[in-house]
Amino acid sequence: MRLGVNVDHIATLREARAINEPNPLEAVFVAKNAGAHQITIHLREDRRHIHDSDVRSIIAQSPLPVNVECALTESITEILCALTPHRITLVPEKRQEVTTEGGLDLKAHQDSIARTLSRYHAHGIHTALFIDPSVENVTLAKELGAHCVELHTGKYANLHLMRSSNLPKTHHSLSEFALPASELESLLDSELTLLANSAKTAREVGLECFAGHGLNYQNIAPIRAIDEISELNIGHSIIARAVFVGLERAIADMLTLCRRTPQNPHHRQT
Ligand code: PXP
Repeated sequence: MRLGVNVDHIATLREARAINEPNPLEAVFVAKNAGAHQITIHLREDRRHIHDSDVRSIIAQSPLPVNVECALTESITEILCALTPHRITLVPEKRQEVTTEGGLDLKAHQDSIARTLSRYHAHGIHTALFIDPSVENVTLAKELGAHCVELHTGKYANLHLMRSSNLPKTHHSLSEFALPASELESLLDSELTLLANSAKTAREVGLECFAGHGLNYQNIAPIRAIDEISELNIGHSIIARAVFVGLERAIADMLTLCRRTPQNPHHRQT
């Protein structure tokens, strides 16, 4: 299992002071030392964390492959075709959201997705579509020409969190999950089955399959148990832990949990 470390929140911290530190570029070298396989950054339309200059310097200097998440807009496509990162992951974006809430609506944007993917392919860029887990979405992603899919694990992560903590019910976007324990358990199980079936379909149709969003040290095991998932992209939980133990150790700890070894149970368990 490969680990892509999302360093957006290093830039979020920098933006809190609007100065020049901490620099997400430095995190790239720490991630390499820790053994990470990839750097992931999100160039948002509102540039709330990662800026164009970060994308430029990270692509130019990163010793690891760089995966840039971005929306389907003309100006972003132009910038990224010129910078040629290793991979582009197309994601939906809403200005007011706290984070990427849900996958792309492939049906509604079929034409623009197919057109944008071919533009990136013409520049030799590997592409992924960030989708809600479903067999239909995976099949459509293949038809539209993507090389890979990244399954959105946000719903799974929210259900896991509601089951294992007493988070305030008013927490953004989680209120719908304030359900009795038995219902939570069965929703969690259905979501994992959906993720596993989607990953299996991806392999059958010849797409690489990744996963990400809301994954952390507590909820990663059942996702690791899905064999067809070959890469996880994780940001928030790693940066949150780094505040206390340092970035290199936080990444190394996550890498240990990503490994499919006898110590890390490789079977379905929540
Ligand atoms: N993958 C994608 C496509 C994302 O948009 C994000 C959030 O930027 C992540 C992974 C990482 O999510 P988190 O920060 O919750 O680990």
